[in-house]
Amino acid sequence: MPTFRAPRGTRDLLPPETATWTRLERLAADLAVRYGYRRIETPLFELTDVFERGVGEVTDIVEKELFRLTPRTDEAESWALRPEPTAGIVRAYIQHGMQTLPQPVRLTETGPMFRYDRPQAGRYRQFWQWDIEAIGDPGPAIDAEIIELGTRFYRDAGLEGIEVRLNSIGDPACRPTYVAELTNYYRANRDALPATEKDRLERNVLRLLDSKDPAMTVVNAAAPKITDRLCAACADHFAGVRAHLEVLEVPYRLEPGLVRGLDYYTRTAFEFYVVGREGQQQAVGGGGRYDGLVGLLGGRPTPGIGFGIGIDRLILALSEAGVVGPAEPAPVAVVVGADPADTTGRLRLATDLRAAGIAARADLGQRKLGKQLEAAARDHAHFAVILGDEAASGEVGLRDLPAGTQKLVPIVDLAREIERADAGHRHGPGTD
Ligand code: HAM
Repeated sequence: MPTFRAPRGTRDLLPPETATWTRLERLAADLAVRYGYRRIETPLFELTDVFERGVGEVTDIVEKELFRLTPRTDEAESWALRPEPTAGIVRAYIQHGMQTLPQPVRLTETGPMFRYDRPQAGRYRQFWQWDIEAIGDPGPAIDAEIIELGTRFYRDAGLEGIEVRLNSIGDPACRPTYVAELTNYYRANRDALPATEKDRLERNVLRLLDSKDPAMTVVNAAAPKITDRLCAACADHFAGVRAHLEVLEVPYRLEPGLVRGLDYYTRTAFEFYVVGREGQQQAVGGGGRYDGLVGLLGGRPTPGIGFGIGIDRLILALSEAGVVGPAEPAPVAVVVGADPADTTGRLRLATDLRAAGIAARADLGQRKLGKQLEAAARDHAHFAVILGDEAASGEVGLRDLPAGTQKLVPIVDLAREIERADAGHRHGPGTD
């Protein structure tokens, strides 16, 4: 047993799996650029108030799962690790006066989030999200654009069968009446509720609707539906979102019980699920509209919408679906030598190749040429550059490892020769 292990609920991301992470991060970054989203980086921790006010005090995320940092002195501010990025991004939007920029301001951030949750498969205490936010557009067209972007990401990542679950959870004009009606409904059915749900009933009744407790199935099926009680403005907005999704040919399933676990949402709420991932009640992504959040955090009232896609869960789903990760990039060339002690000669040559833009490494162990060549082949290098007696006349051996052929090449031409031959490798017959 090692003395130290990564903290419970966290993982080390190791090669070769990290190649998949790199691929998904690039895909996310490319799509963000294509859709006009600009990168933002906010701190990994914020004033606790940002989350208490933004995400909501009576949410699992703040009540139970917030990683609060212990203040070092009595006067210190209270901080917490970010459980999600939206509140921090909105805080930055207000702080930097982004309201004066052309609206909407489209922002994207990818990074680790922290929730002190009970660890299990697909549920970690540190996990990664790709986040997208469009602040300053009341929709509904942009709602559909954002949902379409989410579905495109999964498809481009190689995951088929993503289901969009969609709901509207109303706004401050229509939700209070609905919440009162829902509270009365559950109170009338109190005996049928499990103990945890009875407790939540008086504090955050909406959360009962998407309870995963099987005992809630029957009582939830007959619960009043918010979509039947939306005010005219919310109903129009919701119809608009759906009409735009239909034009974009993005299939979705209406899910009247979908209420999300963060309090800032208004109107559009959605989640992404993998069809057929049975027994897995875990969303691979989710988001929605938060028209009250900028105001709640002290800014001029401004609408917004966004999503967060869970990269850890996406990778789990990809591996369950048998989608093979990309190969790790192999070095193009490994510089080996007949004289084990001549590490300077090998290092200098590899440095020159890298300066010329070639992925090269030198064998810096002081071992026999045969061992150096074996290691180069094990690394799946395309070429071994062999430093031997010919170096005195300005030449080195260039061995094509997969082909098993070798020739002498003037050192001055080495980089060009490797580039030319490597292009042949990649585009030649039988290779990709
Ligand atoms: P969320 O639904 O709390 O939304 O999280 C988004 C996604 O992060 C989830 O669908 C899931 O894939 C992943 N996720 C959440 N918790 C964990 C965990 N403990 N372990 C692994 N993955 C997890 C938000 O965070 C909102 N900020 C989304 C948003 C952006 N809404 C508007 N803009």
